[in-house]
Amino acid sequence: MKINSAEFIISNQDVSKCPSNRLPEYAFIGRSNVGKSSLINMLTDFKSLAKTSGRPGKTQLINHFLINKNWYLVDLPGYGYARVSKSSKAKFQKFITKYFEQREQLVCGFVLVDVRHEPQKIDLEFMEYLGESGIPFSIIFTKADKLKPNALERNVEHYKKVMLDGLWEEIPPYFVTSSTNKAGRDEVLAYIDEINQN
Ligand code: GTP
Ligand code: MG
Repeated sequence: MKINSAEFIISNQDVSKCPSNRLPEYAFIGRSNVGKSSLINMLTDFKSLAKTSGRPGKTQLINHFLINKNWYLVDLPGYGYARVSKSSKAKFQKFITKYFEQREQLVCGFVLVDVRHEPQKIDLEFMEYLGESGIPFSIIFTKADKLKPNALERNVEHYKKVMLDGLWEEIPPYFVTSSTNKAGRDEVLAYIDEINQN
């Protein structure tokens, strides 16, 4: 799929203030610093569409980006970042779970996990939460450029095994990506395109 246009539309913490047209949307969620905003820039090929930072906690709001005037990519704040203020220290911030539960035009959540790390409890918990809530999701492994091919494959296989040994009977669709070298870009865009066509 070719990206012809990508425009920032609105940021807020209030699901009811998100765009009210019924265009389909895809939301990026995961731990702070995992690379959600970078992935949005990589997929759209617009370098500074979404704000990124080396320090966790950069994205604090729900951000809607309109793509090809036809669907949205949604950048969300990270979870699992200890330094967020005490009032938002709930494991998953309320407005984020509200977004997932109330946003009917959300067609798929992408849960991002850093491919270098052991499966993290908080990510597995968030996927469990999505599964229990009946919200479709896929997994995106990020920062693939940081590992050699063998280690990359080993880590992905390990992740799948941990899920299958846990409560998952099958592995959701998953993608291995790098915002640095654009690995996985065509696959993620083709997947979105296919859903949009149906
Ligand atoms: P929050 O908004 O804080 O939740 O973080 P985020 O998940 O949006 O992460 P962000 O895109 O801001 O990236 C965090 C850091 O990781 C930045 O320093 C990025 O340059 C770096 N980064 C993101 N993706 C990749 C990747 O694929 N490869 C490498 N090497 N670095 C990456
Ligand atoms: Mg971000």
